[in-house]
Amino acid sequence: MKSRFLFIITAWLLVSSFANAQSKIKAIKAGKLIDVVSGTVLTNQVILIDSNIITDIGPSLTIPANAEVIDLSKATVLPGLIDCHTHLTSLPSGDYYGDIFRKTPIDFAVLAHIYAKRTLQAGFTSCRDVGASAFIDVSLRNAINNGDIEGPHMQVATLYIGSTGSHGDLNGFSPYLDWQMPKQMSGVADGVDELRKQVRYNIKYGADVIKFGASAGVLSEEESVGAPQFTQEEMNAIVDEAKLWGKKACAHAHGTEAIKMAVKAGVASIEHGSLIDEEGIELMKQHGTYLVADIYNDDYILSEYSKLGYPEKIINKEKMVGRQQRENFAKAVKAGVKIAFGTDAGVYPHGWNGKQFFYMVKYGLTPMQAIQSATINAADLLGWKNKTGSLSKGKWADIIAVDGDPLTGITILEQVKFVMKDGIVYKNELKK
Ligand code: ARG
Repeated sequence: MKSRFLFIITAWLLVSSFANAQSKIKAIKAGKLIDVVSGTVLTNQVILIDSNIITDIGPSLTIPANAEVIDLSKATVLPGLIDCHTHLTSLPSGDYYGDIFRKTPIDFAVLAHIYAKRTLQAGFTSCRDVGASAFIDVSLRNAINNGDIEGPHMQVATLYIGSTGSHGDLNGFSPYLDWQMPKQMSGVADGVDELRKQVRYNIKYGADVIKFGASAGVLSEEESVGAPQFTQEEMNAIVDEAKLWGKKACAHAHGTEAIKMAVKAGVASIEHGSLIDEEGIELMKQHGTYLVADIYNDDYILSEYSKLGYPEKIINKEKMVGRQQRENFAKAVKAGVKIAFGTDAGVYPHGWNGKQFFYMVKYGLTPMQAIQSATINAADLLGWKNKTGSLSKGKWADIIAVDGDPLTGITILEQVKFVMKDGIVYKNELKK
Protein backbone atom coordinates (compact mmCIF):
# COMPACT_ATOMS: atom_id res chain seq x y z
CA MET A 1 0.00 0.00 0.00
CA LYS A 2 2.78 2.35 1.06
CA SER A 3 4.82 1.62 -2.06
CA ARG A 4 1.77 2.17 -4.24
CA PHE A 5 1.25 5.54 -2.57
CA LEU A 6 4.91 6.43 -3.14
CA PHE A 7 4.62 5.40 -6.76
CA ILE A 8 1.64 7.67 -7.27
CA ILE A 9 3.38 10.59 -5.61
CA THR A 10 6.54 10.08 -7.68
CA ALA A 11 4.56 9.76 -10.87
CA TRP A 12 2.61 12.91 -10.04
CA LEU A 13 5.84 14.82 -9.30
CA LEU A 14 7.38 13.65 -12.54
CA VAL A 15 4.37 14.60 -14.59
CA SER A 16 4.03 18.00 -12.94
CA SER A 17 7.72 18.84 -13.23
CA PHE A 18 7.60 17.84 -16.89
CA ALA A 19 4.54 20.05 -17.34
CA ASN A 20 6.46 22.83 -15.63
CA ALA A 21 9.43 22.49 -17.92
CA GLN A 22 7.05 22.52 -20.83
CA SER A 23 4.99 25.30 -19.31
CA LYS A 24 3.76 27.65 -21.93
CA ILE A 25 2.46 30.04 -19.30
CA LYS A 26 4.60 33.12 -18.79
CA ALA A 27 4.02 36.10 -16.55
CA ILE A 28 5.71 39.42 -17.17
CA LYS A 29 5.99 41.85 -14.29
CA ALA A 30 6.01 45.29 -15.89
CA GLY A 31 7.24 48.20 -13.77
CA LYS A 32 5.93 50.77 -16.22
CA LEU A 33 3.73 49.89 -19.17
CA ILE A 34 2.82 52.16 -22.05
CA ASP A 35 -0.87 51.76 -22.77
CA VAL A 36 -1.08 53.00 -26.33
CA VAL A 37 -4.87 52.70 -26.41
CA SER A 38 -5.49 55.26 -23.66
CA GLY A 39 -2.21 57.08 -24.21
CA THR A 40 -1.21 56.68 -20.57
CA VAL A 41 1.49 54.97 -18.53
CA LEU A 42 0.39 52.23 -16.14
CA THR A 43 2.50 50.95 -13.28
CA ASN A 44 3.07 47.52 -11.77
CA GLN A 45 1.15 45.52 -14.32
CA VAL A 46 1.22 41.78 -14.83
CA ILE A 47 0.90 40.32 -18.32
CA LEU A 48 -0.09 36.67 -18.53
CA ILE A 49 0.86 34.78 -21.65
CA ASP A 50 -0.21 31.35 -22.81
CA SER A 51 1.90 30.13 -25.70
CA ASN A 52 1.74 33.01 -28.22
CA ILE A 53 -1.22 34.95 -26.83
CA ILE A 54 -1.74 37.52 -24.06
CA THR A 55 -4.41 35.94 -21.87
CA ASP A 56 -4.73 38.65 -19.27
CA ILE A 57 -3.24 41.93 -18.18
CA GLY A 58 -3.80 44.02 -15.08
CA PRO A 59 -2.38 45.39 -11.85
CA SER A 60 -3.07 42.59 -9.40
CA LEU A 61 -3.38 39.36 -11.30
CA THR A 62 -2.59 36.11 -9.58
CA ILE A 63 0.41 34.52 -11.21
CA PRO A 64 -0.24 30.79 -11.72
CA ALA A 65 2.21 28.58 -9.82
CA ASN A 66 3.50 26.91 -12.99
CA ALA A 67 4.20 30.18 -14.82
CA GLU A 68 7.67 31.28 -15.83
CA VAL A 69 8.07 34.75 -14.38
CA ILE A 70 9.90 37.40 -16.36
CA ASP A 71 10.80 40.34 -14.20
CA LEU A 72 10.68 43.63 -16.09
CA SER A 73 9.79 45.62 -13.00
CA LYS A 74 12.63 48.10 -13.54
CA ALA A 75 11.88 48.61 -17.22
CA THR A 76 9.31 50.30 -19.43
CA VAL A 77 7.24 47.77 -21.35
CA LEU A 78 5.61 48.51 -24.70
CA PRO A 79 3.81 46.61 -27.44
CA GLY A 80 6.14 45.24 -30.12
CA LEU A 81 6.84 47.93 -32.70
CA ILE A 82 5.56 47.82 -36.27
CA ASP A 83 7.32 49.27 -39.31
CA CYS A 84 4.84 49.76 -42.17
CA HIS A 85 7.48 50.34 -44.85
CA THR A 86 10.40 47.94 -45.02
CA HIS A 87 12.35 46.13 -47.70
CA LEU A 88 13.76 43.20 -45.75
CA THR A 89 15.11 41.62 -48.92
CA SER A 90 17.53 44.33 -49.90
CA LEU A 91 20.37 46.61 -48.87
CA PRO A 92 22.88 48.46 -51.07
CA SER A 93 26.23 46.66 -51.06
CA GLY A 94 28.32 49.65 -52.09
CA ASP A 95 28.47 48.61 -55.74
CA TYR A 96 25.51 50.37 -57.40
CA TYR A 97 25.88 48.85 -60.86
CA GLY A 98 26.94 45.48 -59.47
CA ASP A 99 23.76 45.27 -57.42
CA ILE A 100 21.68 45.98 -60.53
CA PHE A 101 23.53 43.97 -63.15
CA ARG A 102 25.67 41.32 -61.50
CA LYS A 103 23.31 39.94 -58.92
CA THR A 104 20.32 37.66 -59.14
CA PRO A 105 17.39 37.61 -56.73
CA ILE A 106 19.08 34.61 -55.12
CA ASP A 107 21.96 36.81 -53.96
CA PHE A 108 19.45 38.96 -52.12
CA ALA A 109 17.48 35.97 -50.89
CA VAL A 110 20.43 34.37 -49.11
CA LEU A 111 20.97 37.49 -47.04
CA ALA A 112 17.37 38.37 -46.23
CA HIS A 113 17.17 36.23 -43.08
CA ILE A 114 19.95 38.32 -41.53
CA TYR A 115 17.96 41.50 -42.11
CA ALA A 116 14.79 39.93 -40.72
CA LYS A 117 16.61 38.95 -37.54
CA ARG A 118 18.13 42.40 -37.11
CA THR A 119 14.70 43.96 -37.46
CA LEU A 120 13.22 41.73 -34.78
CA GLN A 121 16.20 42.31 -32.48
CA ALA A 122 15.57 46.06 -32.79
CA GLY A 123 12.10 45.57 -31.29
CA PHE A 124 10.07 45.48 -34.48
CA THR A 125 7.86 42.45 -34.09
CA SER A 126 5.82 43.14 -37.23
CA CYS A 127 6.40 44.82 -40.53
CA ARG A 128 4.70 45.53 -43.80
CA ASP A 129 7.28 44.77 -46.48
CA VAL A 130 6.44 46.85 -49.51
CA GLY A 131 8.34 45.57 -52.52
CA ALA A 132 10.75 42.74 -53.26
CA SER A 133 11.94 40.98 -56.37
CA ALA A 134 11.08 37.43 -57.34
CA PHE A 135 8.77 36.73 -54.37
CA ILE A 136 11.68 36.54 -51.91
CA ASP A 137 9.45 38.28 -49.37
CA VAL A 138 6.88 35.49 -49.59
CA SER A 139 9.53 32.84 -48.86
CA LEU A 140 10.89 34.95 -46.02
CA ARG A 141 7.46 35.46 -44.47
CA ASN A 142 6.65 31.76 -44.76
CA ALA A 143 9.97 30.64 -43.27
CA ILE A 144 9.46 33.01 -40.32
CA ASN A 145 5.89 31.79 -39.82
CA ASN A 146 7.15 28.19 -39.92
CA GLY A 147 9.63 28.98 -37.17
CA ASP A 148 12.58 28.16 -39.45
CA ILE A 149 14.20 31.57 -39.04
CA GLU A 150 13.89 34.55 -36.71
CA GLY A 151 12.05 37.61 -37.89
CA PRO A 152 9.00 39.79 -37.46
CA HIS A 153 5.45 38.96 -38.49
CA MET A 154 5.38 40.10 -42.09
CA GLN A 155 2.79 41.38 -44.50
CA VAL A 156 4.28 41.38 -47.97
CA ALA A 157 3.56 43.26 -51.17
CA THR A 158 5.71 41.10 -53.48
CA LEU A 159 6.44 42.95 -56.76
CA TYR A 160 6.30 46.74 -56.86
CA ILE A 161 3.80 47.57 -59.57
CA GLY A 162 5.08 50.37 -61.79
CA SER A 163 4.52 51.69 -65.30
CA THR A 164 7.06 51.41 -68.10
CA GLY A 165 9.93 53.74 -67.29
CA SER A 166 8.77 54.18 -63.70
CA HIS A 167 10.62 54.08 -60.37
CA GLY A 168 10.07 50.32 -60.49
CA ASP A 169 11.48 49.82 -63.98
CA LEU A 170 15.10 49.39 -65.07
CA ASN A 171 15.83 53.02 -65.85
CA GLY A 172 18.62 55.06 -67.28
CA PHE A 173 20.25 52.21 -69.21
CA SER A 174 20.45 50.98 -72.78
CA PRO A 175 17.20 49.65 -74.30
CA TYR A 176 19.17 46.49 -75.10
CA LEU A 177 19.26 45.73 -71.40
CA ASP A 178 15.94 44.54 -70.11
CA TRP A 179 14.42 42.32 -67.47
CA GLN A 180 15.76 38.80 -67.99
CA MET A 181 12.72 37.18 -66.46
CA PRO A 182 9.07 36.66 -67.31
CA LYS A 183 7.57 40.10 -67.92
CA GLN A 184 5.11 39.86 -65.04
CA MET A 185 8.00 39.16 -62.65
CA SER A 186 9.22 42.70 -63.28
CA GLY A 187 6.02 44.22 -61.90
CA VAL A 188 6.04 46.60 -64.87
CA ALA A 189 2.55 46.94 -66.32
CA ASP A 190 0.58 49.56 -68.25
CA GLY A 191 -3.10 50.13 -68.88
CA VAL A 192 -6.09 48.89 -66.97
CA ASP A 193 -6.07 45.31 -68.24
CA GLU A 194 -2.38 44.66 -67.68
CA LEU A 195 -2.58 46.23 -64.25
CA ARG A 196 -5.54 44.18 -63.13
CA LYS A 197 -3.68 41.09 -64.31
CA GLN A 198 -0.54 42.18 -62.45
CA VAL A 199 -2.49 42.61 -59.22
CA ARG A 200 -3.93 39.12 -59.66
CA TYR A 201 -0.49 37.70 -60.42
CA ASN A 202 1.01 39.26 -57.27
CA ILE A 203 -1.82 37.92 -55.14
CA LYS A 204 -1.64 34.50 -56.80
CA TYR A 205 1.96 34.14 -55.67
CA GLY A 206 1.52 35.41 -52.12
CA ALA A 207 0.91 39.17 -51.81
CA ASP A 208 -0.92 40.29 -48.67
CA VAL A 209 -1.02 43.89 -49.81
CA ILE A 210 -0.60 45.68 -53.15
CA LYS A 211 2.03 48.38 -53.63
CA PHE A 212 2.24 50.56 -56.72
CA GLY A 213 4.21 53.56 -57.82
CA ALA A 214 1.94 56.59 -58.15
CA SER A 215 4.85 58.95 -58.74
CA ALA A 216 8.48 58.89 -59.71
CA GLY A 217 11.14 58.22 -57.10
CA VAL A 218 14.44 59.28 -55.64
CA LEU A 219 16.64 56.18 -55.80
CA SER A 220 16.02 55.50 -59.48
CA GLU A 221 17.25 57.24 -62.58
CA GLU A 222 14.14 58.84 -64.04
CA GLU A 223 14.35 62.62 -64.26
CA SER A 224 11.62 63.72 -61.92
CA VAL A 225 10.77 62.80 -58.34
CA GLY A 226 7.20 63.96 -58.37
CA ALA A 227 5.66 63.21 -61.77
CA PRO A 228 2.65 60.88 -61.72
CA GLN A 229 3.51 57.53 -63.31
CA PHE A 230 -0.01 56.19 -63.77
CA THR A 231 -3.22 57.81 -64.95
CA GLN A 232 -6.16 58.19 -62.58
CA GLU A 233 -7.90 55.38 -64.42
CA GLU A 234 -4.92 53.07 -63.93
CA MET A 235 -4.64 53.83 -60.21
CA ASN A 236 -8.38 53.28 -59.78
CA ALA A 237 -8.07 49.90 -61.48
CA ILE A 238 -5.19 48.75 -59.26
CA VAL A 239 -6.97 49.69 -56.03
CA ASP A 240 -10.28 48.29 -57.22
CA GLU A 241 -8.75 44.98 -58.28
CA ALA A 242 -6.94 44.68 -54.93
CA LYS A 243 -10.25 45.28 -53.15
CA LEU A 244 -11.93 42.51 -55.15
CA TRP A 245 -9.40 40.14 -53.63
CA GLY A 246 -9.82 41.58 -50.15
CA LYS A 247 -6.47 43.38 -50.16
CA LYS A 248 -5.49 46.92 -49.31
CA ALA A 249 -3.30 48.97 -51.62
CA CYS A 250 -0.59 51.48 -50.83
CA ALA A 251 1.08 53.97 -53.11
CA HIS A 252 4.65 55.15 -53.37
CA ALA A 253 4.01 58.86 -53.94
CA HIS A 254 6.38 61.80 -53.54
CA GLY A 255 4.61 64.09 -56.03
CA THR A 256 1.89 66.59 -55.15
CA GLU A 257 -0.50 65.52 -57.89
CA ALA A 258 0.25 61.81 -57.65
CA ILE A 259 -0.56 61.83 -53.92
CA LYS A 260 -4.01 63.26 -54.64
CA MET A 261 -4.66 60.80 -57.45
CA ALA A 262 -3.73 57.82 -55.27
CA VAL A 263 -5.85 59.06 -52.37
CA LYS A 264 -8.82 59.49 -54.73
CA ALA A 265 -8.24 55.97 -56.02
CA GLY A 266 -8.71 54.74 -52.44
CA VAL A 267 -5.29 53.62 -51.20
CA ALA A 268 -4.95 52.79 -47.52
CA SER A 269 -1.70 54.70 -47.24
CA ILE A 270 0.54 57.16 -49.02
CA GLU A 271 4.20 56.20 -48.78
CA HIS A 272 6.76 59.05 -48.58
CA GLY A 273 4.24 61.87 -49.22
CA SER A 274 7.16 64.27 -49.65
CA LEU A 275 5.64 67.06 -51.74
CA ILE A 276 2.11 67.01 -50.34
CA ASP A 277 0.24 70.33 -50.34
CA GLU A 278 -2.74 71.70 -48.37
CA GLU A 279 -5.25 70.16 -50.74
CA GLY A 280 -3.55 66.76 -50.51
CA ILE A 281 -3.60 67.01 -46.74
CA GLU A 282 -7.33 67.79 -46.78
CA LEU A 283 -8.02 64.87 -49.13
CA MET A 284 -6.10 62.47 -46.90
CA LYS A 285 -8.12 63.61 -43.91
CA GLN A 286 -11.39 63.18 -45.80
CA HIS A 287 -10.49 59.69 -46.96
CA GLY A 288 -8.87 58.62 -43.69
CA THR A 289 -5.68 57.76 -45.60
CA TYR A 290 -2.57 57.05 -43.55
CA LEU A 291 0.67 58.90 -44.21
CA VAL A 292 3.74 56.68 -43.98
CA ALA A 293 6.65 59.11 -44.28
CA ASP A 294 10.22 57.81 -44.19
CA ILE A 295 11.72 60.90 -42.60
CA TYR A 296 14.94 59.42 -41.24
CA ASN A 297 16.20 58.29 -44.66
CA ASP A 298 17.49 61.68 -45.80
CA ASP A 299 20.31 61.63 -43.21
CA TYR A 300 21.60 58.28 -44.32
CA ILE A 301 21.31 58.91 -48.06
CA LEU A 302 23.08 62.27 -47.90
CA SER A 303 25.91 61.00 -45.72
CA GLU A 304 26.46 57.56 -47.30
CA TYR A 305 25.05 57.17 -50.81
CA SER A 306 27.85 58.95 -52.70
CA LYS A 307 30.29 56.58 -50.99
CA LEU A 308 28.04 53.67 -51.92
CA GLY A 309 28.47 54.54 -55.59
CA TYR A 310 25.10 56.14 -56.31
CA PRO A 311 25.05 58.55 -59.28
CA GLU A 312 25.04 62.27 -58.55
CA LYS A 313 21.67 62.62 -60.21
CA ILE A 314 20.12 60.54 -57.45
CA ILE A 315 21.88 62.42 -54.67
CA ASN A 316 20.59 65.68 -56.17
CA LYS A 317 17.06 64.35 -56.16
CA GLU A 318 17.41 63.53 -52.47
CA LYS A 319 18.67 67.06 -51.77
CA MET A 320 15.61 68.43 -53.47
CA VAL A 321 13.12 66.26 -51.60
CA GLY A 322 14.47 65.38 -48.14
CA ARG A 323 13.96 68.62 -46.23
CA GLN A 324 10.64 69.38 -47.87
CA GLN A 325 9.40 65.95 -46.88
CA ARG A 326 10.11 66.67 -43.20
CA GLU A 327 8.48 70.10 -43.33
CA ASN A 328 5.42 68.75 -45.10
CA PHE A 329 5.22 65.91 -42.61
CA ALA A 330 4.98 68.55 -39.86
CA LYS A 331 2.13 70.26 -41.74
CA ALA A 332 0.26 66.98 -42.15
CA VAL A 333 0.69 66.18 -38.45
CA LYS A 334 -0.57 69.61 -37.47
CA ALA A 335 -3.61 69.23 -39.71
CA GLY A 336 -4.45 65.88 -38.13
CA VAL A 337 -3.62 63.41 -40.93
CA LYS A 338 -3.41 59.82 -39.62
CA ILE A 339 0.23 58.81 -39.25
CA ALA A 340 1.68 55.30 -39.34
CA PHE A 341 5.35 54.56 -38.75
CA GLY A 342 7.31 53.43 -41.81
CA THR A 343 10.97 53.90 -42.53
CA ASP A 344 12.01 52.34 -45.86
CA ALA A 345 14.51 50.10 -44.03
CA GLY A 346 16.74 48.59 -46.66
CA VAL A 347 17.61 52.07 -47.88
CA TYR A 348 19.57 52.30 -44.60
CA PRO A 349 20.83 49.31 -42.53
CA HIS A 350 18.17 47.00 -41.14
CA GLY A 351 17.72 47.27 -37.39
CA TRP A 352 18.15 51.04 -37.36
CA ASN A 353 14.37 51.51 -37.72
CA GLY A 354 14.06 53.18 -34.31
CA LYS A 355 16.13 56.16 -35.44
CA GLN A 356 13.08 57.63 -37.12
CA PHE A 357 11.27 58.28 -33.82
CA PHE A 358 13.57 61.25 -33.14
CA TYR A 359 12.50 62.97 -36.37
CA MET A 360 8.83 62.21 -35.87
CA VAL A 361 8.97 64.01 -32.53
CA LYS A 362 11.13 66.80 -33.90
CA TYR A 363 8.59 67.37 -36.66
CA GLY A 364 5.47 67.53 -34.55
CA LEU A 365 4.34 64.31 -32.90
CA THR A 366 4.37 63.97 -29.13
CA PRO A 367 6.47 60.99 -27.98
CA MET A 368 3.23 59.13 -27.15
CA GLN A 369 1.86 59.83 -30.65
CA ALA A 370 5.12 58.65 -32.22
CA ILE A 371 4.82 55.39 -30.26
CA GLN A 372 1.17 55.08 -31.25
CA SER A 373 2.14 55.55 -34.90
CA ALA A 374 4.33 52.44 -34.60
CA THR A 375 1.83 50.38 -32.62
CA ILE A 376 -1.90 50.94 -32.61
CA ASN A 377 -2.02 53.06 -35.81
CA ALA A 378 0.32 50.75 -37.68
CA ALA A 379 -1.76 47.73 -36.67
CA ASP A 380 -4.86 49.52 -37.91
CA LEU A 381 -3.23 50.23 -41.27
CA LEU A 382 -2.23 46.58 -41.61
CA GLY A 383 -5.73 45.41 -40.70
CA TRP A 384 -4.13 43.61 -37.73
CA LYS A 385 -5.76 45.56 -34.90
CA ASN A 386 -7.23 42.38 -33.42
CA LYS A 387 -3.81 40.68 -33.48
CA THR A 388 -1.24 43.26 -32.41
CA GLY A 389 -0.54 46.96 -31.81
CA SER A 390 -1.36 47.09 -28.11
CA LEU A 391 -0.88 44.99 -25.01
CA SER A 392 -4.38 43.61 -24.72
CA LYS A 393 -6.07 40.33 -23.95
CA GLY A 394 -6.26 38.03 -26.97
CA LYS A 395 -3.48 39.69 -28.97
CA TRP A 396 -0.11 38.20 -29.92
CA ALA A 397 2.40 38.22 -27.10
CA ASP A 398 4.62 40.69 -28.97
CA ILE A 399 6.20 42.70 -26.19
CA ILE A 400 9.30 44.83 -25.87
CA ALA A 401 11.00 46.72 -23.08
CA VAL A 402 13.50 49.53 -22.71
CA ASP A 403 15.69 50.72 -19.90
CA GLY A 404 14.30 54.19 -19.19
CA ASP A 405 11.40 56.32 -20.27
CA PRO A 406 10.79 56.83 -24.01
CA LEU A 407 8.22 59.51 -23.24
CA THR A 408 10.95 61.80 -21.93
CA GLY A 409 13.70 60.57 -24.25
CA ILE A 410 12.33 59.05 -27.44
CA THR A 411 15.76 57.95 -28.71
CA ILE A 412 15.72 55.22 -26.07
CA LEU A 413 13.66 53.30 -28.61
CA GLU A 414 16.86 52.96 -30.66
CA GLN A 415 18.03 50.62 -27.89
CA VAL A 416 15.35 48.08 -27.24
CA LYS A 417 16.63 45.70 -24.57
CA PHE A 418 13.95 43.05 -24.39
CA VAL A 419 12.08 41.45 -27.28
CA MET A 420 9.35 38.85 -27.10
CA LYS A 421 7.46 37.75 -30.19
CA ASP A 422 4.66 35.21 -30.09
CA GLY A 423 5.53 34.50 -26.47
CA ILE A 424 9.16 33.62 -27.23
CA VAL A 425 11.95 35.75 -25.78
CA TYR A 426 14.44 36.66 -28.53
CA LYS A 427 16.45 39.17 -26.55
CA ASN A 428 16.90 40.13 -22.92
CA GLU A 429 19.71 42.55 -22.17
CA LEU A 430 18.05 44.22 -19.23
CA LYS A 431 20.11 44.45 -16.08
CA LYS A 432 18.86 41.99 -13.50
N1 ARG B 1 12.48 54.51 -51.91
C1 ARG B 1 12.37 55.93 -51.92
C2 ARG B 1 12.61 56.44 -53.31
O1 ARG B 1 13.55 56.02 -53.92
C3 ARG B 1 13.35 56.52 -50.97
C4 ARG B 1 13.21 57.96 -50.74
C5 ARG B 1 14.19 58.39 -49.73
N2 ARG B 1 14.24 59.79 -49.50
C6 ARG B 1 13.44 60.42 -48.66
N3 ARG B 1 13.65 61.67 -48.48
N4 ARG B 1 12.52 59.84 -48.02
O2 ARG B 1 11.90 57.26 -53.79
